[in-house]
Amino acid sequence: MKVLVTGASGLMGRALMREFERTTSCDVLGLAFSRAKGALRKVDITDEGEVRKVMQEFQPDAVVHAAVQRRPDVVEKDEEKAKKVNCSATETVAKISAEMGTYLIYISTDYVFDGTKPPYKPSDATNPLNKYGQQKLEGEKISQAHNPDCAVLRVPILYGQIETVEESAVTVLYNTLMNREKTDLVDDCCTRCPTHVDDIAVVCRQMCERWKTDPQKLNGVFHWCGSEFMTKYTMITTLANAFNLPHDHLKPNPIQPTGGTLRPKDCSMDRSKLEALGIGQTTPFKEGIHKVMEPFVTSQ
Ligand SMILES: NC(=O)c1ccc[n+]([C@@H]2O[C@H](COP(=O)([O-])OP(=O)(O)OC[C@H]3O[C@@H](n4cnc5c(N)ncnc54)[C@H](OP(=O)(O)O)[C@@H]3O)[C@@H](O)[C@H]2O)c1
Repeated sequence: MKVLVTGASGLMGRALMREFERTTSCDVLGLAFSRAKGALRKVDITDEGEVRKVMQEFQPDAVVHAAVQRRPDVVEKDEEKAKKVNCSATETVAKISAEMGTYLIYISTDYVFDGTKPPYKPSDATNPLNKYGQQKLEGEKISQAHNPDCAVLRVPILYGQIETVEESAVTVLYNTLMNREKTDLVDDCCTRCPTHVDDIAVVCRQMCERWKTDPQKLNGVFHWCGSEFMTKYTMITTLANAFNLPHDHLKPNPIQPTGGTLRPKDCSMDRSKLEALGIGQTTPFKEGIHKVMEPFVTSQ
């Protein structure tokens, strides 16, 4: 099976590459842009000609579309620029994949929900609170409209093998933990299900494999997420306890943060649709975060 991964240099893309590369029955090609190196192909995903050329050359059976501008604050600041990646490029990938009879997995987010009525099923009504969520929802609709052989896979806050701690909204908490000179209030109000990118990569690989024998069952909207409901405060204390680091300078803040880009309170998702297909993998948070952070903690 030939699989094309867009956004292959990103947090999730690198996990997808590792997973498909170690699957012997797969031939995988990764696309990247500013961080294209090694075997990754440099392609500006917003350039339809470049995307068409690489897809026609590679002839993928499946595309996992993970290229994105995913920082809500950046999207708010320059909506039009972000839209080129999040919406226009998605239309290009969806159109070309449909022309080629290629299965499309469009990676989306729990931010398509407003966070007031969890847990969310794939069929539940969406209502994004910020522009990033709106663009990702538009990306979902575009993908499905242009390619009928499409899965939308919504995922929540991610962590995994990182290049810098700032790369993930989970691992960046390490900076707060280590800044012991400052007493800090840490959000203990908004619920998140931190999810290991290696689990998402396994889910995508399983979806592609299952699609070969059961294509209809793998079309539509799907959810995958970790199984632990946490706040930033419980994530940071779990991280501290995993390495026996003191955290008495941090206090839980029970009040929902205000100011800045609006974020939903609780977008916990119901993942039973994929579980019913025998698809899924869950890394316990304490185990996952310990492995991911070990190189950073031991180098301090
Ligand atoms: N991270 C999270 O917590 C989170 C939460 C929910 C959903 N998601 C979803 O998960 C998916 C993957 O996100 P991620 O966290 O892996 O993102 P990421 O680490 O920010 O990576 C973004 C990727 O998109 C590529 N990209 C951006 N602009 C491009 C362009 N013009 N041409 C080609 N490639 C371009 C980047 O390539 P270069 O770096 O090489 O330029 C990079 O590979 C997205 O659909 C996102 O919405 C992520």
